[in-house]
Formats: sequence, C-alpha cells, structure tokens
Amino acid sequence: MLVSNSLDITQPYQGYTYSYPHKSTYRELTPIDLKDVWQKQNSAFFYVHIPFCEMRCGFCNLFTISNPKERVSKYIETVQLQIQQISEVLPDLYLQNFAIGGGTPTFLAVDELELLFKSIIDFGVNPQQFFGSIEASPKTINLEKIALIKEYKIARLSMGIQSWIQDEMKALGRPQTIETTLTAVEHIAQSGVEEFNLDLIYGTHNQTNKSFLYSLQKTIAYQPTEIFLYPLYIRKLTGLGIKNQKQSQHQFKLYITGRDFLLNNGYIQTSMRCFRRKEAIDCRPESKYSSITDNMIGVGAGARSYTKNLHYSTDYAVNRKEIKTIINDYMNTKDFKSINYGVALNTDEQKRRFLIKSLTDGGRLNEKLYKDIFDVSPFNEFEVLNELLERNWLTEIQPELYALNQEGMCYEDVIGPALYSENSKRLMQDFEWK
Ligand SMILES: C[S@@+](CC[C@H](N)C(=O)[O-])C[C@H]1O[C@@H](n2cnc3c(N)ncnc32)[C@H](O)[C@@H]1O
Ligand code: SF4
Repeated sequence: MLVSNSLDITQPYQGYTYSYPHKSTYRELTPIDLKDVWQKQNSAFFYVHIPFCEMRCGFCNLFTISNPKERVSKYIETVQLQIQQISEVLPDLYLQNFAIGGGTPTFLAVDELELLFKSIIDFGVNPQQFFGSIEASPKTINLEKIALIKEYKIARLSMGIQSWIQDEMKALGRPQTIETTLTAVEHIAQSGVEEFNLDLIYGTHNQTNKSFLYSLQKTIAYQPTEIFLYPLYIRKLTGLGIKNQKQSQHQFKLYITGRDFLLNNGYIQTSMRCFRRKEAIDCRPESKYSSITDNMIGVGAGARSYTKNLHYSTDYAVNRKEIKTIINDYMNTKDFKSINYGVALNTDEQKRRFLIKSLTDGGRLNEKLYKDIFDVSPFNEFEVLNELLERNWLTEIQPELYALNQEGMCYEDVIGPALYSENSKRLMQDFEWK
C-alpha cells in the first residue's frame, strides 16, 4: 500500500530530524534488562553526554544546565559507574566511532576531561583506531584542552560560533563576546587538530544578507574542515521561546546566500547544514559504521541509545529545575543494568527511521539494502519518495543508490517530518514539556 504524504514547502523549517523517533515520543517503560535489549547486537557507536555549559543560550533546548557547581566530579564518577556496569553486562560489545557531546564537554576542567578520556578508553573505545568527535564552546576551550584533545587522538573538534556580530549574539541570547570567539577560533585553527568544525546560525530577526555574509567571510578565513549552517529554531521553554521572539522573515533567502557563498569559496555541500572543505572531502578514515542501520550506546544523563527495536534515554526536559532533577536522579542511580524510559520501534517505524536517516544529514538511500531488510521497495510504500523523484530532488547516483541533490537538500527539514508516522506525531503532540 502506498503511504501518501505530500510535501508542504511553503514553510521550509518544520523540524530538524537528527534522530527519529523524536525524544518527545519516549515514555516510561516496564523495566527491561540491558542485556535483553542488546542481545545479538555486537557493535555500536559510542556517545557520552556532558550536560553542562558556562551559559544557557536563548535558542538552545539541548539537555544541559549552566553553573552546575559541585555536581561535575560526581557526574564523572557516575559516568564511570555506568560504563563499568555496561561493560559487565555487555563484555563483547564492540565500540567503533564515538562522540563526546553536550552541552559543552570542554566545560570540564583539564583534569576532569582527562579522567573522562581515560574512562572512555578503558571502556574499549579506541581513538587511535576510530573517528571521534568532541564539542567545545569559545569560552571554555583553551590551549591546554586542545593539547589534551590532540594527545588523546580525538580527531574532530566542533564549536559553535553562531555569528561574528555582537548584536546578533544578543538577539540569540548568547552571552559570548566576539573577542572570546576570535581567540578560541585562532587557537583551534593554529593547533593542527585533525578536523575542526564551526557552527553558524542564520535567521535572527536582526540578521541581514550583508551581516550573514560578513560572518561567513570571517569564518572561512580560518578554513575550518566543516562549517555547519543551522537555521534558527525558536523552541518551547527556551529563552527566546519564552520571550516569543520571531525568526527573520528571510530565513530561506539567508540559507541560499550562505550556501552559495560557501560553494563559491571552496566548500562542498554534504547535507542541508553541512559544508566540507573540498580538500578534506576524502580524508576521513574508511568506516564500517552506518548511522542508518547501526546501533548507538549512550552514557550520561540525557544521552540516547538506539538499537533496532528500542530507543531509550533518561527522562528529558528543557527547564533548568527539571534538568537539575534528572541529573541528580542520574547521579543517585546505582543500577544501570535496566532500562525504563524510551520508545519501541515496530517495523513501520524502523522503515521510517531508515528513510529519514538515508535522506537527511548526508545520508544515502540504499534501495537494495532496504529491500534486503524489509522485503519490499521503499518506492512502493512511501509516496513521498516518488514525489522527491518527480520534483527532481532525489538523484540515482548509482544503481539503487539515491541521494538528495542541491535542490532537495534545501528541504531536508520538510522531508524528515513528512516521514513521521501518525503515532509518533501524536506522541510528540501529547508530550508534556517541562
Ligand atoms: C552542542 S551545540 C555546540 C557546542 C557548544 N555547546 C556551543 O554552543 O558552542 C550544537 C549547535 O547546535 C546549534 N543549535 C542548537 N540549538 C539551535 C536552535 N534552536 N536553532 C539553531 N541552531 C541551534 C548551534 O549552532 C550549536 O552550536
Ligand atoms: S548552544 Fe551550546 S553553550 Fe549554548 S546552551 Fe546550548 S549547548 Fe550550551
């Protein structure tokens, strides 16, 4: 049966689907043993979440708090405990590529960061062998931390700039001075770290084409390996959301400006948000890891874990008080060997996830693999894929291998939501935001 979904492109920013189903579909579960969830799964991407920042930005709804005070060292101890218990239950789990995210992992002091890196290595994550990434912010990164990241062979350092214009930072509710940004970017660019990525946001109400071009110009001067262009989303319970602030009316135009500027200045577009320096396009080590079909095991409060049938995490919140409670609960947890919050994926949800991961964030739609797994062609089941072909947004780059082209990539945030199931949409709508 064809599932019909026609794309509404009048609003190109409907939702960033970096994971499906969305976290707001997760609910309390009858406890399930970690061992049962991971049986027959022998490898995974590893993720550790550090839910601390030196500031709480007005646009940000990530699971993080500023000013965590004395919590940090207890938090790292808890991460170590969780790692140890996972190792006991899943001794044969083979960990491949990894990411240390947040929040802002470089909020940790140098000795705390080193302790974290050592724990991860003890867990079997090998930065010498696998590609790893860590997130930083301008105020928290320094030469000592960069040296440590290099020493531990973490290949990629990713940092949010957002804008090089002070008034735009103010409109974003991000208390970061341009001097701080400048020092941090210079340190990273000169450090010789294998890859570095800088994030920019477009769509604040006071941003113009000219001011965006200025930020882009400043950014490319440092030749980052990747530049991410994020459309501003104003979400519930965030600083900007509470103020009821609105995005620029020209957000899509800003995107085209940014995209074309980077394409004309030595960058290749790999997804709606990601632009990679031409010379760096083939320099990543070969990886067997596939974000479309492979598992992820997450550690820390707010970290998600994915297996084929189940996605799970700790509870989720945006409000500071609620996040603090969840972090405290995490730090008081003694038993990480069972799971009690998440969402189960039936075959329909698995298909949708496969397609969303294949069509967004630089994925490729492998029709043959889909047929091997699900015994049917996705084009026979999801009308939206035929619509993508009709609109000439999806190109067959090899037999049975498709990718969004430049026009299609403009609408990743329409295509992802068009593939959500009715059930997921209902769960998202019913979620009690706190
Ligand atoms: C984990 S943060 C990056 C690391 C670090 N915490 C920092 O802020 O510098 C991830 C990135 O997502 C983007 N982002 C987060 N929330 C956003 C929103 N509501 N709208 C647009 N971009 C957003 C920002 O560009 C941000 O740099
Ligand atoms: S954007 Fe980065 S620094 Fe700001 S609150 Fe979010 S995670 Fe923290």
